[in-house]
Amino acid sequence: MNRSPFVLPQVYISTLEAVLGLDLTSKHAGRSKDRNWKELVAGVAELSKGLTIDRVQTQSGVYLSTPIARRAYMLYYMTTNLFKLWPAFRELSLAGFFEQGNRPLTHLDLGGGPGTAVWSFVLWLELEGPKQEGLQQESFNFILTDLLRSNLEDARQFQIELAKRIPEAKGLFESLDLSDLTALKAFGARHGKFKLLTMMNALNELDEAKDEELIRILFELLEDEGALIIIEPSSREISRRALRFRDRVIAAGGSIFAPCTHNNNCPALTKEGDWCHTEIQWERPLFINAIDDEIGTLRLSLKDTYSTIRKRAGNIRDSFPSEAEVSARIVSELFDEKGRYRAFFCSDRGREEFILNKREESPSNRQFGETRRYDLVQIESFEPRPHDVKLAPGSTVNIVLTSSGARIVDK
Ligand SMILES: C[S@@+](CC[C@H](N)C(=O)[O-])C[C@H]1O[C@@H](n2cnc3c(N)ncnc32)[C@H](O)[C@@H]1O
Repeated sequence: MNRSPFVLPQVYISTLEAVLGLDLTSKHAGRSKDRNWKELVAGVAELSKGLTIDRVQTQSGVYLSTPIARRAYMLYYMTTNLFKLWPAFRELSLAGFFEQGNRPLTHLDLGGGPGTAVWSFVLWLELEGPKQEGLQQESFNFILTDLLRSNLEDARQFQIELAKRIPEAKGLFESLDLSDLTALKAFGARHGKFKLLTMMNALNELDEAKDEELIRILFELLEDEGALIIIEPSSREISRRALRFRDRVIAAGGSIFAPCTHNNNCPALTKEGDWCHTEIQWERPLFINAIDDEIGTLRLSLKDTYSTIRKRAGNIRDSFPSEAEVSARIVSELFDEKGRYRAFFCSDRGREEFILNKREESPSNRQFGETRRYDLVQIESFEPRPHDVKLAPGSTVNIVLTSSGARIVDK
């Protein structure tokens, strides 16, 4: 089974090195006495306190108001957020989303900060983009927006360096306040509609009371065949806030393409203590490792709550030829206990705990024991019980897509 972790592209590392004036690849990166490095690591420590503990301070991006904070954000948070969109891109790609014909693909990023989502897409296109489907870098353009002009300036610096390595990485930078819905509407009137909209780690800084109106305007900004990807941190409160946004999208007539395999309200919102997030495997780069060691952060894997939203009906489950009885997303880790495996599955049946006794493992259900959080599975022949669902030797469990969005072909 292809479980290769994501590896940070060298082109990203060398661009970041050029922008920040740091050596990030040498073995001793981070352990040097370099003042620039020490200042940035202290900046990451400050940011990490603000982003995880003091949520009030995070409103409207005030934590990014100093140059050091913004450079520290680029170094640590842009890097650790970069891959969070890739599973969503891969899933859309499976559904032929990037088959554009001759039309350019337009990408609008909202609350973009230093441009994480845009660079993520540029790099994905460069390294994994479906070139055979006719989508080339040159037929793509972006508009990167943020409340703060200083963020846009930093993003522009990054773009200048990136374009030396990927010349097609070109676009516009525009300041846009997402809390000013009249301004957002006017932006749409000026620029028209977009195929791809991203809003990454920004929703939680916006007033939830305005969600309905925001969704209506975001839909106006989206082409009929377009997709809006929302990425949010994985902590319980912020994740639940993102899940409520997801449910409001459905109430507004939108469709959840992924990660959910259904368009019902989110079952994780039923109980206060539940939430839902993915976990992406990556090869933690040396310099992130060094920062983690110095200040006590830890990014062994990358976690987030995401929704890929479309105007028209359609779901990731339609990308698989065989119609299974149930297509489910695994929404917990796999609990490997003495004598049995347990995991929570989310499907149009709701959020349910599935159990397999190890003595009942068989060739058809064996993959249950190999599952990871956010794999997509197809299941047949199971036994619903009052508090869980039992898998038997005759049950079938097939992992069809891994949490990284990699399609499984080697059964
Ligand atoms: C945590 S950063 C995320 C940056 C980038 N999208 C990422 O994921 O790395 C949140 C961004 O949202 C922006 N932001 C906050 N409130 C905003 C608003 N009302 N309108 C537009 N952007 C806003 C901040 O300036 C900041 O750049």
